[in-house]
Amino acid sequence: MALGEEAGAEIGLIGLGTMGANLALNIAENGFPIAVFNRTVEKTRRFHAAAGVLADRVIPCETLEAFVAALKPPRAIILMVPAGETVDRQIAAVRSLLSRDDLIVDAGNANFHDTDRRDAEARQLGLPFLGIGVSGGEEGARRGPSIMGGGPRTCWDRVAAILEAIAAKYEGSACATWMGAGGAGHFVKTVHNGIEYADMQMIAEVYGIMRDGLVMTPPAISDVFASWNNGPLKSYLIEISAEVSRAQDPVSGGPVLDVILDRAGQKGTGRWTAIEAQHLAAPATTIEAAVAARNLSARLEERMSGQAIFGAAPQRLEAGAVNVEMLEQALVAGKIVCYAQGFGLLAAASQAYDWSLPLPDIARVWRAGCIIRSSMLNEMAGALADNPGRNLMFAAHFAEQLKQTQESLRRVVAASSLAGLPAPALAAALSYFDTMRTGRLTTNLVQAQRDFFGAHSFERVDMEGAHHGPWRKD
Ligand code: 6PG
Repeated sequence: MALGEEAGAEIGLIGLGTMGANLALNIAENGFPIAVFNRTVEKTRRFHAAAGVLADRVIPCETLEAFVAALKPPRAIILMVPAGETVDRQIAAVRSLLSRDDLIVDAGNANFHDTDRRDAEARQLGLPFLGIGVSGGEEGARRGPSIMGGGPRTCWDRVAAILEAIAAKYEGSACATWMGAGGAGHFVKTVHNGIEYADMQMIAEVYGIMRDGLVMTPPAISDVFASWNNGPLKSYLIEISAEVSRAQDPVSGGPVLDVILDRAGQKGTGRWTAIEAQHLAAPATTIEAAVAARNLSARLEERMSGQAIFGAAPQRLEAGAVNVEMLEQALVAGKIVCYAQGFGLLAAASQAYDWSLPLPDIARVWRAGCIIRSSMLNEMAGALADNPGRNLMFAAHFAEQLKQTQESLRRVVAASSLAGLPAPALAAALSYFDTMRTGRLTTNLVQAQRDFFGAHSFERVDMEGAHHGPWRKD
């Protein structure tokens, strides 16, 4: 095919980075002719040359003008460029070449506030725009991601057939759903990532307890993860934890995990979730702890100084304090709490932003394709369909599981605390659980203090109205 000459592409994609390139191949493989454009022409050429049997369905374009000309009107264009200003710049550049009814779909990891703004700007001008969250990493983008859409429903309907075709399937049903107006899709993707952070952190904490507390080798830890993947923890993240624990480093000849620096990176979506949880007073403490844990992990030199001053904690667990079955149960409990918080945050946002987020559908769309896919999500979808307003911990199935596993979570947190092994996300999960099962907390004292120093008043347990205490004033 000559570059950019055809006008037959069903859809276009701008940005041939890892995610964009794989998504484009996925679209082509599903039978949709696609035009592609990348700022660096060489990348476009390399992509087309490597497309193999799919090359015939790919129209590589070297200029934006050729790209737009290659698309069937009314056009639909997916942006897969780095989140932030690049998206705005790319929208401005391509918009000037488009007709009024051409649709732009931002499929990057945008901050939902940006998507809300872009949606408002587009609507003001009467231009079609969607913001969609795409999860699944490189493999998901190529073989079937989970897709969370946001923006006008009419715009979603225009591209739904393509998005459903390329999405992961769970027992035949496509993991691609419209979540609501404006930034709803990117918000759901952000919370997905927040849960991803917490899930990963809790697994890492349990790995730490096995590595340092039980003095297990990476291959032994790998076997434990692999066996957990046959039980209630069955999930992508447990599966890959087994795999990375087993991998050998070709340089050192030892386990690769042992040579990876313990300094975690992040692109910001976990932080956005934690900020939003605080903003909406819908505490997602496991996610907040996981974000903080990544930030603290980055302070390697400071941690080394701390170790020099205080000495390393004993770390090895007392014999019999914890076994791998307890660790499995602790993770089950932690995971239920984490999802209860995540869905609580989604419910709060739905109300605050007037979205009507379909909570059961969110659980459904996460059952396949995305990074947090796990067998638990099917049960969660059922529980949320039953009663979307209820704390997920209180749904019969999960309440029963928590009754059976909370004791292990408690023992694991206690044992790691005594051994000086940090387990902030698991501890946060336990505190949340204990708080949410306590009918009378100690915040009566906080209220008394507030009234004492600021006359803020308090409610009484035995009378209606606002009251003040009999405080002595000097
Ligand atoms: C996904 C992932 C994906 C990515 C993020 C997380 O759902 O496919 O969440 O979006 O891995 O960029 O990255 P950080 O850990 O760097 O924040």
